[in-house]
Amino acid sequence: MTRPARALIDLKALRHNLSRAREAASGAKIMAVVKANAYGHGLLTVARTLAQADAFGVARLDEGLALRAAGVQAPIVMLSGVESIQELEQARDQRLDIVVHSEHQIAMLEGAPPGTRLKAWLKLDSGMHRLGFPPTVFARKYIRLSECAAVIDTVALMTHLADADLPRSKRVAEQIAVFEANTRGISAERSIANSGGLLGWTEARADWVRPGIMLYGISPFADDTGTDQGLVPAMTLETRLIAVNQVERGDRIGYGGTYICDQSMPIGVAAIGYGDGYPRHAPSGTPVLVEGLRCPLVGRVSMDLISIDLRPNPKAKPGDRVVLWGEGLPAEEVAAQAGTIAYELITRIAPRVDYAEIDA
Ligand SMILES: Cc1ncc(COP(=O)(O)O)c(C=O)c1O
Repeated sequence: MTRPARALIDLKALRHNLSRAREAASGAKIMAVVKANAYGHGLLTVARTLAQADAFGVARLDEGLALRAAGVQAPIVMLSGVESIQELEQARDQRLDIVVHSEHQIAMLEGAPPGTRLKAWLKLDSGMHRLGFPPTVFARKYIRLSECAAVIDTVALMTHLADADLPRSKRVAEQIAVFEANTRGISAERSIANSGGLLGWTEARADWVRPGIMLYGISPFADDTGTDQGLVPAMTLETRLIAVNQVERGDRIGYGGTYICDQSMPIGVAAIGYGDGYPRHAPSGTPVLVEGLRCPLVGRVSMDLISIDLRPNPKAKPGDRVVLWGEGLPAEEVAAQAGTIAYELITRIAPRVDYAEIDA
């Protein structure tokens, strides 16, 4: 039996968004970021659909191993690198490239078993202060890594932007300048930009760009949507109405009775809740689409159910389709209402939600 809550993954949209990234990259290579189950869209589905990408970026070893086990041949970069000699050996055996951001990783490579050969990306902390070597030691780490027998050819260079979601941020320009100043004179491949960097700063393109969120049709910017950026949402989260009840003025809806009806109205109950990954903090007023018409959620989100004010669609009946985000309703808008970001919504789809692919 199919479950009512489904995430529809639009393969055509994924391909379109990759072309949009290609166009914006104007010649830079594309490392498609597919960590966290391809931002909740399904790792293998996305990797197969985006086979034209020049490489894939993953966070952790298991994600890289899953891609190789499925037959993906493209370069795969582990964006957090390896944490132990066992991981290093697995990365080597499966031809996974590694980001090197910490001294213990350099020491591990220097002590790697003879014959170990991997491609390494050395990461500069240009101002985000998360992963990477600070400018004061970067040149010395570069020399050590370049001289390391376990590292193939030239070491590639990268950094990550902290503020690329803010289109006019001065800090982005500062980080790009720090990266350029500290990598000048080194003949190596370079990578700076995530989706925001790619769409917002031509000077961040370098040799490789690393788009994630835009491939899924979501804008990296805080103040617009994927559609504004020429993207198409790749995930539509949908369910069905399972009840429609007529309630009276003054009736309270759901746990805590936080929503009080100001008149007699039809209330729909849809089969989705925080147990499926719908945000519990979505307040009354958050839009959903009932058979394509925008209706506000009312009362608290519960584990399996939400309640919906059906006055904008008074003919709605049990079985009708309810869209939580995606086609016709940007995840960015729902996320803003719920006090979060679309990244979190799409990566938190729960295991009990069914997936279906569409390619129309
Ligand atoms: C190192 C690195 N590069 C690229 C990305 C992709 O970022 P975005 O999804 O904002 O395009 C991420 C994601 O967080 C990342 O950690």
